[in-house]
Amino acid sequence: MYAGAMKDKRSDSRLVLEKVSHSYGAVPVLNDLNLVVDPGEVVVLVGPSGCGKTTILNLLSGYIEPVSGTVRREGIIRTVYQQDGLFPWLTVSENIAIGLRSVEDPARREKELLDLIALIRLEGFEHHYPHQLSGGMRQRVELARVLAGDSDILLMDEPFSALDYQGRLRMRWELVRLLEKRPHTVVFVTHDIEEAAQLADRVLVLSNRPATISRELHIEALRPRDLTDPAVIGAMKEILKELGLQV
Ligand SMILES: Nc1ncnc2c1ncn2[C@@H]1O[C@H](COP(=O)(O)OP(=O)(O)OP(=O)(O)O)[C@@H](O)[C@H]1O
Ligand SMILES: [Mg+2]
Repeated sequence: MYAGAMKDKRSDSRLVLEKVSHSYGAVPVLNDLNLVVDPGEVVVLVGPSGCGKTTILNLLSGYIEPVSGTVRREGIIRTVYQQDGLFPWLTVSENIAIGLRSVEDPARREKELLDLIALIRLEGFEHHYPHQLSGGMRQRVELARVLAGDSDILLMDEPFSALDYQGRLRMRWELVRLLEKRPHTVVFVTHDIEEAAQLADRVLVLSNRPATISRELHIEALRPRDLTDPAVIGAMKEILKELGLQV
């Protein structure tokens, strides 16, 4: 059944890691990691460079298999990688349409494509190629691509880190707005603690490799959250403390 185009429900997709260990050759990266991401939840992973965040996303997506332990996923997963994931030889419309291949009815596919382009406010740029867009516009296309069709789960690996500060702030609003319209279960990796505090239902602070969860922080405040929201500032303080970065 095709339910993606007008999907207006909470995502019902869960992600589970059970006692997952992983290593690359002799390098242990994860050791008995347990993680449950609830349907519709936005979980943000922060932690030192090289601790295993991308590895966790690759295990969740099924791109790599763990050395031991169990990974369970329900639903269709789309990934935003650390590097730009758009095809440079395809236009904005063609890049987004890749996410719509499972939609069989051409009229419905066309409508969904127009809806998505309106959603990311890129009307008039449908036939532009990625190199003709700004970094922020490219990231909006990237969001439309992963939200298109039947996807339930988004795995996002530092998706906004290449943007300047204001660009990052704008993309956070954009993501919150899009998730409001099209709920997904999200695992989001960032080095930016402000971003973590603004976006997350739950922040997991990871230790150095082999990564363990050193702190779990629930943030109850409604989104969108202003940077000066006491819940955001409180969460940032807690994360900084856990990372040993607070004076
Ligand atoms: N394909 C691979 N082969 C060998 N080692 C790898 C491979 N991928 C990652 N590693 C190693 O595993 C560790 C964890 O890497 P990972 O990419 O998961 O870290 P990360 O937390 O995402 O780091 P960053 O914040 O810099 O993106 C690093 O020490 C890295 O060198
Ligand atoms: Mg990484």
